[in-house]
Amino acid sequence: MNTFRKLILVTAALLAAVTLSAKPRVRIIATGGTIAGVSATSASSAYTAGQVGIQTLIDAVPQMLYLADVSGEQLVNIGSQDMNDEVWLQLAKRINVLLNEEGYDAVVVTHGTDTMEETAYFLNLTVKSEKPVILVGSMRPSTAISADGPANLYNAVAAAASPECVGLGVLCCMNNQLLDAKSVIKTHTIDCDTFEGGKVGCIGYVYNGEAHILQRVTNKHTVNSEFDITRLDRLPRVGIVYGYANCSPLPMQAFVDAHFDGIVLAGVGDGNFYKDVFDVAVAAQQRGIQIVRSSRCPTGPTCLNSEVDDARYHFVAALDLNPQKARILLMLALTKTHDWQEIQQYFMEY
Ligand code: DGL
Repeated sequence: MNTFRKLILVTAALLAAVTLSAKPRVRIIATGGTIAGVSATSASSAYTAGQVGIQTLIDAVPQMLYLADVSGEQLVNIGSQDMNDEVWLQLAKRINVLLNEEGYDAVVVTHGTDTMEETAYFLNLTVKSEKPVILVGSMRPSTAISADGPANLYNAVAAAASPECVGLGVLCCMNNQLLDAKSVIKTHTIDCDTFEGGKVGCIGYVYNGEAHILQRVTNKHTVNSEFDITRLDRLPRVGIVYGYANCSPLPMQAFVDAHFDGIVLAGVGDGNFYKDVFDVAVAAQQRGIQIVRSSRCPTGPTCLNSEVDDARYHFVAALDLNPQKARILLMLALTKTHDWQEIQQYFMEY
């Protein structure tokens, strides 16, 4: 081969190497959900989540390859109503290895929307990296007319590849919005714009393949988190009791009888109990089962020592965490301490 041809080939190889090396390495971990769902017909609302594999999802959005060096792996393929502690622990450990040992620049997690907010908050407390971790899903299955999954996945990879998203904690990317793990909540059963950030709102947007950040959160997360799941193969058991007028004490009593480690109340108003439930909660706390008061109200804090004398009963007030996220923080707090005042401090910081 003459020298000129050799020069051309070497130049082309160098250009290719530079181009690829210029792109962030983004790893997609698939867990299932509607984004991997399949419906009977494109017009049908009847579908099954967790049917399509990660490579099919990636192949459906070739445009993302201009944003990043994308690769994928399938952790599980479930509807997120079946998300559980075992998968959470596997997922957090795998993300830490990908970001801290295998040199990836970011991770995207495809996930069902039903419990996405919970997984996001669990990872917010257990991922030990400032690199972007972005959860993404869809409200319409992959086979639906105007499926929202491909655009959401493209945007999630764009956010993952964006230096703007470093150090923000774990984010959810849905319907062009970026939402922080502590505030994000699914607010509507079927709308594509179901995810909101409560009184915080969204922290940014993704459009034209770029992330645009509007605000930063102040709560502790990721590299500033004291919680370490590296050596854990199980989590403390914490249940949630829903409050309502004339509420039965039986559900809370059942958690006590089953020796749960903690119980969260999704109370009425500012985390209030029905009187029969209150009595069970006081007895449970005295038996060493930590009680956390949260609220069934979609927004607003559950205030400490307000309508309930938490200091007297050693209850913890959930402050800005809804019941499902208060449960996650209490689970992780109980891996460190059973002291109610130390646990309350965690709720003030995370
Ligand atoms: N089964 C629900 C889930 O996997 C479907 C909802 C969705 O993913 O949008 O969370």
